[in-house]
Amino acid sequence: MSQAHLAGKVAIVTGGGAGIGRAIALRFAEQGARLVVADVNAETARAVAEAAGHDALAVPCDVSAPADVDRLFETTLQRFGSLDVLVNNAGLVNTERHFLEADEAWWRRIQEVNLWGVFHCSLRAARIMAEQRHGVILAVSSGGATKAHRGNVAYDAAKGGIEAMVRGMALDLGPYGVRVCGLVPGSIDTQGMDPETKASRGETVPLRRVGEAEDLAGPAVFLVSDDAAYISGTMLVVDGGLLAQQRSPQVDIFPLSKYPNLPPR
Ligand SMILES: NC(=O)c1ccc[n+]([C@@H]2O[C@H](COP(=O)([O-])OP(=O)(O)OC[C@H]3O[C@@H](n4cnc5c(N)ncnc54)[C@H](O)[C@@H]3O)[C@@H](O)[C@H]2O)c1
Repeated sequence: MSQAHLAGKVAIVTGGGAGIGRAIALRFAEQGARLVVADVNAETARAVAEAAGHDALAVPCDVSAPADVDRLFETTLQRFGSLDVLVNNAGLVNTERHFLEADEAWWRRIQEVNLWGVFHCSLRAARIMAEQRHGVILAVSSGGATKAHRGNVAYDAAKGGIEAMVRGMALDLGPYGVRVCGLVPGSIDTQGMDPETKASRGETVPLRRVGEAEDLAGPAVFLVSDDAAYISGTMLVVDGGLLAQQRSPQVDIFPLSKYPNLPPR
């Protein structure tokens, strides 16, 4: 993208201290956004705001704590005076547990952060944006909302809830000029996969590689920019084709070995 797609826009990115949120936050800053990096980890939030290099602010915030979220939005308005974009990215990952070994504390914590966190932030953003008659709320979902991960009932339920929220909020907020969209990452290496796991997992993806956090940055910029002015209530899947396939190439009835050999470029 050559010109600044988000010039002057005020954007909050939750979970902006690491992984996908960090990549989105830094790309937003490159694209001219005035940035609020919100993360439960105050240190990484500060480091990303510093790296963003201009109009950027770090706010320590646990998205599951309503008082923290109140402070996040108050601080944003005090500093920038308005809010154009909220990216609900914060989430607990690596939450696996077999359903037979589930308990209430496990279920509750995952819902509190991954689903209620989206509610707390989106409600406050929606009230500001509806009054302004413009704004975009983006929520980071997962392929798990559509097809299950083993041992991840709580995580996948939260992501399914997020996608239902995206559709519902889009309907309730559309008349006030507020768009709501979902971003659906596939298998993204944010936790530092060992090279073997990364290579073998990549072989199951139609585009033949695991994704990087930066793969989400451009699609996020697009969805919150004015180029996407007529997009609301929908999810953008960024997964190298993973959700589109019924079976991985290793077990498919038409294996990769039968693909035509093209002359080298
Ligand atoms: N990595 C993947 O393969 C993948 C795939 C699909 C969806 N996602 C989703 O993308 C989002 C980001 O994931 P990631 O892989 O970058 O994870 P990550 O662990 O690298 O980063 C998550 C960030 O969120 C912050 N965070 C955690 N709990 C928080 C809370 N209560 N309040 C505020 N901040 C909090 C963490 O401190 C961290 O900075 C999550 O919503 C995740 O579910 C990731």
